Amino acid sequence: MKPKLILITMLTILMSGIQSHAQSNGKKILVAYFSHSGNTRAVAYDICKKTDGESFEIQTIKPYPTDYNTVVDQAKRELKADYRPELKSKLKNIKQYDVIFIGYPNWWGTYPQAVKVFLSQYDFSGKTIIPFCTHEGSELGRSVADLKKLCPKSHIQEGLAIRGSSAHNSGDKIEDWLKKLKIIK
Ligand SMILES: Cc1cc2nc3c(=O)[nH]c(=O)nc-3n(C[C@H](O)[C@H](O)[C@H](O)COP(=O)(O)O)c2cc1C
Repeated sequence: MKPKLILITMLTILMSGIQSHAQSNGKKILVAYFSHSGNTRAVAYDICKKTDGESFEIQTIKPYPTDYNTVVDQAKRELKADYRPELKSKLKNIKQYDVIFIGYPNWWGTYPQAVKVFLSQYDFSGKTIIPFCTHEGSELGRSVADLKKLCPKSHIQEGLAIRGSSAHNSGDKIEDWLKKLKIIK
């Protein structure tokens, strides 16, 4: 390859790196989320879009039932028994991220057990963790307190709660929150 071509290629690679973090103040962002019926996923996608974050869906090997009452009962039993469902996949390298958004539906006042398993799998010491949830009235519930107990060496920032029925239509609220946290300008 000619020297000029090598230089152009190197500059292009460098510029694409700069651009992909431009919106998020140069921080490498992960948006990890669990979603059963799609509301939290919609919020997670919007956060990714606005921050240039990478998304990671927390999924259990055994999917949860789609019937509402069945999953509500199952989640109650799992919470009571502190059941740890097995997850489908693992993140390759948590160390590379500066900021980790963690999203979930409020299930019985806190995050689902699958999120607890995810949070227990990695060392989040010194990382900034930003929770967000969708819910039908309980907002973040006791999830932030639970998160602080599980990740005592992380910097937990102000979370965002969005009503499930507004999840697909909350772009402005999400933007205001990200600006307040100084994640975006
Ligand atoms: C198992 C289960 C438990 C729930 N518990 C609560 C709750 O305690 N408080 C609340 O406000 N909403 C509760 N909800 C409603 C969900 O938090 C809400 O519908 C959420 O937006 C679903 O997100 P998803 O589509 O990402 O799964 C519960 C829903 C399910 C399925």
